Amino acid sequence: MKTVYIEPNISTGGTLVLKSMTVWLSLIVLLLGCSPRAIDYDQVGAHDKLIIRFSHVTGEETPKGLAAKRFKEIVETRSDGKIEVQVFPNSTLFSDKEELKALKRGEIQLIAPATSKVSPLVPEALLFDLPYLFHNQDDVWKIADGPIGEELNQLLEKQGYKMLAVWDNGFKQLTNNRHPIERPEDFKDLSFRIMPSKVLAKQFESVGSTSMVLAFDELYTALEQGHVDGEENTVSNIYSKKLYLTQKYMTKSDHGYLGYFVLTQKEFWEAIPPEQRELLEQALVEVTEWERNLALDIDIKEYEALKAIQGLEIYELSEEEKQQWREAFYLTYEWFASQTQDEIIKGFITEIFEEGTSSKDK
Ligand code: LMR
Repeated sequence: MKTVYIEPNISTGGTLVLKSMTVWLSLIVLLLGCSPRAIDYDQVGAHDKLIIRFSHVTGEETPKGLAAKRFKEIVETRSDGKIEVQVFPNSTLFSDKEELKALKRGEIQLIAPATSKVSPLVPEALLFDLPYLFHNQDDVWKIADGPIGEELNQLLEKQGYKMLAVWDNGFKQLTNNRHPIERPEDFKDLSFRIMPSKVLAKQFESVGSTSMVLAFDELYTALEQGHVDGEENTVSNIYSKKLYLTQKYMTKSDHGYLGYFVLTQKEFWEAIPPEQRELLEQALVEVTEWERNLALDIDIKEYEALKAIQGLEIYELSEEEKQQWREAFYLTYEWFASQTQDEIIKGFITEIFEEGTSSKDK
């Protein structure tokens, strides 16, 4: 069986072609000292094997890690081994600073970055970072699976990507090593690690903190060495990366949302034969539904585990306190509304903020 990688052929002006990586071809390549021969997809026989490399930054036991593994299992079983999904967790192949570019270059075929990490490419994705925008995950799915999700996909497609699904990792909590954070005033003069998102920078600025963009694989060391006082993350990331070993205080604030855009490269995806593409898309539909339920379960289970950790002091915000925090973050909304040109998104933000309901049901 031949192994087939589909990659953009730079020499033919970006048209999609396949590289056939047979042992023979590799030998010829080595002998001739040139890059592998690019062939049209039509020339690839029924016995060729499609390899999909899925790179991500979290642990294998997180919602994203488990969903990537499940996707691999479903696809490999249903394709009778004709599609192989290689999963690279924990930033082992690419860190979150590199993965979008590596996907564009065709070195990997699937990634699932946090929406915040896509925002430097598509600023409209900043929407997901607005503090206390969503009541719960159902609100998120209304946006992600509706016209706004479609709009974000169009914007991504203009840049050569394709959004295949949106996965969940729940709401973010705050941790820090200086003192408990209970009221908005407690943020003053603290420094936080953030993902590369202007909304997250504004969020901390609006309550008197500073922020520093760091990759996920740099986070533990930065906290341990005191480069920043704290960070915001989901229960699953705090637990699986053992961030609690470096932090004395956690606030269960549910102030922000962390979800993932499952992304591929548009040209790559469109060059997959329709039958195989349908199989992959069907698998993604099933895994997405499974992942969203799993993320909720893991969040509950691992929060209990965090509560049992000696040395981590947890403060849970009441609904009333959440409303106060939401108001304290108001400048973030104002800034975002002034930045976005997109009328659908603008209308949505105004409506949500004026309703003033986002934090009430959580
Ligand atoms: C982070 O960088 O904190 C998270 O986005 C990591 C992840 O992928 O959940």
